[in-house]
Amino acid sequence: MTTAAELATAIPKAELHIHIEGSLEPELIFALAERNGLALPYASVEALRAAYAFTDLQSFLDIYYAGASVLLHEADFHDMAWAYFLRARADNVVHSEVFFDPQTHTSRGVPMATVIQGLASACERARGELGMSAELILCFLRHLSEEDAFATLEAALPYRSHFIGVGLDSSEVGHPPSKFSRVFARCRELDLRIVAHAGEEGPPDYIWEALNDLKTERIDHGVRSLEDPKLVAELARRRMPLTVCPLSNLKLCVVSDLTDHPMKRLLDAGLCATVNSDDPAYFGGYMNANFVQTVQALQLSREDVITLARNSIEASFVNETRREEMTAMLDAAISG
Ligand code: ADE
Ligand code: ZN
Repeated sequence: MTTAAELATAIPKAELHIHIEGSLEPELIFALAERNGLALPYASVEALRAAYAFTDLQSFLDIYYAGASVLLHEADFHDMAWAYFLRARADNVVHSEVFFDPQTHTSRGVPMATVIQGLASACERARGELGMSAELILCFLRHLSEEDAFATLEAALPYRSHFIGVGLDSSEVGHPPSKFSRVFARCRELDLRIVAHAGEEGPPDYIWEALNDLKTERIDHGVRSLEDPKLVAELARRRMPLTVCPLSNLKLCVVSDLTDHPMKRLLDAGLCATVNSDDPAYFGGYMNANFVQTVQALQLSREDVITLARNSIEASFVNETRREEMTAMLDAAISG
């Protein structure tokens, strides 16, 4: 009998919370800087990696936005996403919903078309060459204004067919979801799927706002929901998925040790929790590293692992045919 950790690595699963700019490995940052004739403020790949010692979300975001500044051309966005898809597929990820932050690039003068077309062509290639399904979700940076978010949505609409939904990310505390109620109302009119980061560093109230003001279909992170029993009951009643990112929570000091991670408590509370990598190049691991380290730290069972994989399929924005296909793949892997 395989262990729970071996099972976790072997089974097919969906990844629903990955920032593509957070998949930029230091080696690729250096290669793209060279290709684009840019100087970096780090002497080597090792020096850059050594700077990845974060104390909170903001200390990470400062380095993450600096790393993304090497992305200039369509091929850069394509190459970054392709590198992620190869790693995800090697971890038996069969479906991926990929966040991207257009404002990080358009604010540097990179056209929206360059960003979206580069990423969309990598999704197409992943479908064709890796046999996985892949979609894009456009995230608004919450530290910027509502006006900037509206302008970003407007600029992206010519490429509407290339993304399935919108999200909300960046510095959480001080930027509650309600700041973007009107932008998300417009996005719902456009039939975009709705997600938002809430309850990563921010309080349970931000999760309530994401649910009630933005009308989210998933909560990204949501680990602080456990502080509010009424909220936990409501998340369970709605079967609201939480896209949880254990290694991210560890590296950004949301938890001080993985043995303290709330994943087991979220599952035991009956919530639809999933495992995801968030920014794998910065947090020390892709999907399977997140699964294995969490399983080992919390002594999760084979049943817990299967529940997490089933939850990821249930929470995916795929059509019912694809959901049944992924469920059949999971069932076959479990019994095989
Ligand atoms: N952008 C990239 N990673 C993020 C995270 N973990 N939280 C908020 N914004 C992000
Ligand atoms: Zn995130």
